[in-house]
Amino acid sequence: MGLPRIIAIDGPAASGKSTLARRLAKALDYLYFDTGVLYRAVTWAALQQGLALDDEAAIAALAASLPIEVRPPSQEDGRSNDVWVAGRDVTWAIRSPQVDAWVSVVAAHPGVRRALLETQRRIGRQGRVVMVGRDIGTVVLPDADLKIYLDASLEERARRRYAELQQRGASVTYDEVLARTRARDQMDASRATAPLRPAPDAVVIVTDGLTADEVFARVWDVIQRHNHHHAPESGPAPQEAERA
Ligand code: CDP
Repeated sequence: MGLPRIIAIDGPAASGKSTLARRLAKALDYLYFDTGVLYRAVTWAALQQGLALDDEAAIAALAASLPIEVRPPSQEDGRSNDVWVAGRDVTWAIRSPQVDAWVSVVAAHPGVRRALLETQRRIGRQGRVVMVGRDIGTVVLPDADLKIYLDASLEERARRRYAELQQRGASVTYDEVLARTRARDQMDASRATAPLRPAPDAVVIVTDGLTADEVFARVWDVIQRHNHHHAPESGPAPQEAERA
């Protein structure tokens, strides 16, 4: 088959990555893996344990030892997976405004990123996967068959995140969401290790004014072209040959 076996989707907060990735995974019958939950779970546990979030050694040790399980959804409450940490269902707890406020600080620690890297690579290299994050195309799976970078203006993304949070009953204002999204973008893009940026070979899609259907249709089109281009008669794609 000429379908991309590993699809990497990166981009800033609330750019529509998880919506797109879930739909692609469903359409292709691939695994959907959102790497943000790993950083969120570590942040949640660090807050829970009262650790200083700027203590890199302590947070990296936590990241290396924390049992984080991502399982199929056990409830129909809008979740796409269950996330469990040490016997607790933290699926929604890791999406709280408090975790939102701290996760980029935690994710900037090189030791934390190192601790979480192998897990992500192991899952990714199994193939038939749509993996979502900030550095999937650049660092985690640089030889992914297809890389998509989703972007949108800060205001559009803050509006989307605000609507999501409101739906879940969180009490935040739009201005707070806007400020936090801006702060997280800045931290994610300016950190020294694995900063947020499109891979040189990523397809960049700016989603302002596009519906989820339209974004999906564009990416689907890219996949069909990839499929055609890498059809069996033209031989395996270089990455596939390498892995074989
Ligand atoms: O859903 P949203 O885009 O708001 O965030 P997320 O994907 O759950 O990621 C939360 C945070 O984790 C990001 O702001 C990054 O700081 C960090 N992260 C990262 O550094 N690398 C990844 N591959 C995924 C997330």
